[in-house]
Amino acid sequence: MSLIEVNHLYKEFQVAKRQAGLWGALRSLLRREYLTKTAVRDVSFAVNQGEMVGYVGPNGAGKSTTIKMLTGILVPTSGEIRVNNLIPYKERQKNARQIGVVFGQRTQLWWDLPTIESFELLKQVFQIPDHRYKQNMATFADILGLDEFLNTPVRQLSLGQRMRADIAASLLHDPLILFLDEPTIGLDVLAKERMRQFITEINRERGVTVILTTHDMSDIEKLCRRMILIDNGQVMYDGELVLIKDLFGKERVLIVDLEGETDSFSVAGAQLVKEEGNRKWLRFNRELTTASQLINRISEKYEIKDLTIKDTEIEEMIRHIYEKGLAVYEMNSCRIENNKF
Ligand SMILES: Nc1ncnc2c1ncn2[C@@H]1O[C@H](COP(=O)(O)OP(=O)(O)OP(=O)(O)O)[C@@H](O)[C@H]1O
Ligand SMILES: [Mg+2]
Repeated sequence: MSLIEVNHLYKEFQVAKRQAGLWGALRSLLRREYLTKTAVRDVSFAVNQGEMVGYVGPNGAGKSTTIKMLTGILVPTSGEIRVNNLIPYKERQKNARQIGVVFGQRTQLWWDLPTIESFELLKQVFQIPDHRYKQNMATFADILGLDEFLNTPVRQLSLGQRMRADIAASLLHDPLILFLDEPTIGLDVLAKERMRQFITEINRERGVTVILTTHDMSDIEKLCRRMILIDNGQVMYDGELVLIKDLFGKERVLIVDLEGETDSFSVAGAQLVKEEGNRKWLRFNRELTTASQLINRISEKYEIKDLTIKDTEIEEMIRHIYEKGLAVYEMNSCRIENNKF
């Protein structure tokens, strides 16, 4: 049995139907009509201890709703969730002891208190033994550089500081599982890197199982072997990230800067996907054409000033799946059984 099991999970929200215009607004005041919004639709997956899984999808896909059900904040409309054998919404307190949660968009800390006091309150709430609290505080303060702002009220922290404080707080009670909902949102490049290193360390050194949502695909690339992609409440892909990369890995992009007049530019064996003046982006399949063949063909007609060759970036692959849905069928056919991880 896996540490986290989700089976045929649904979450529906009733949302008040708004009617257009003043008359409509008045009518809705008198007689509310509701629409059913299905935020999570027949989602199933299982996560084993020690895994680090990226839960990815566009805005409104149902990521946070899933996390909220896993943490017990929301009650599923139907379906099953087990987190280390507990049903989160039924045993919310017990579940809280075994999980850590960070919502990047909103702090879990007490807004007006000095940061250290939030940590001390959590120590009381979770009845963390003195020595363990001290050990954890020392480790986190060291890696996350908490000392510089421990006495500052949470509301005065910068976003990066607040995020570091939040993740430290989520781990004080040594949870088995960490749910991170957009842990790097709004952080600068350095702060993101620091956060990623910390998450990697927590997973590796402490064996904490991590489920993380993000819009930043480099988070997933750096952190997760496995990705669950959801769109419109449904799982579109669940498997190894490398499989997606393989599928798209045959494609490369050649970027050339040309001299002279290039308005009707084209080259056999590649597709012109973007152009900005004399800079052209050419997509090609490296199993059918080589970059040097393309460069030869181009230089027969144009002078090349500069060139770069790139692999298709993971963002582009995901966008492709969102937009075209084309790959979804192939993706599903290479779906991996969870117990292989
Ligand atoms: N409390 C709620 N009441 C009504 N509808 C809701 C509620 N919470 C979420 N929804 C709707 O459910 C859908 C999924 O929302 P959710 O917050 O899970 O998306 P998300 O994948 O986390 O998106 P984002 O990337 O923007 O954070 C959205 O259409 C949202 O409007
Ligand atoms: Mg969200």
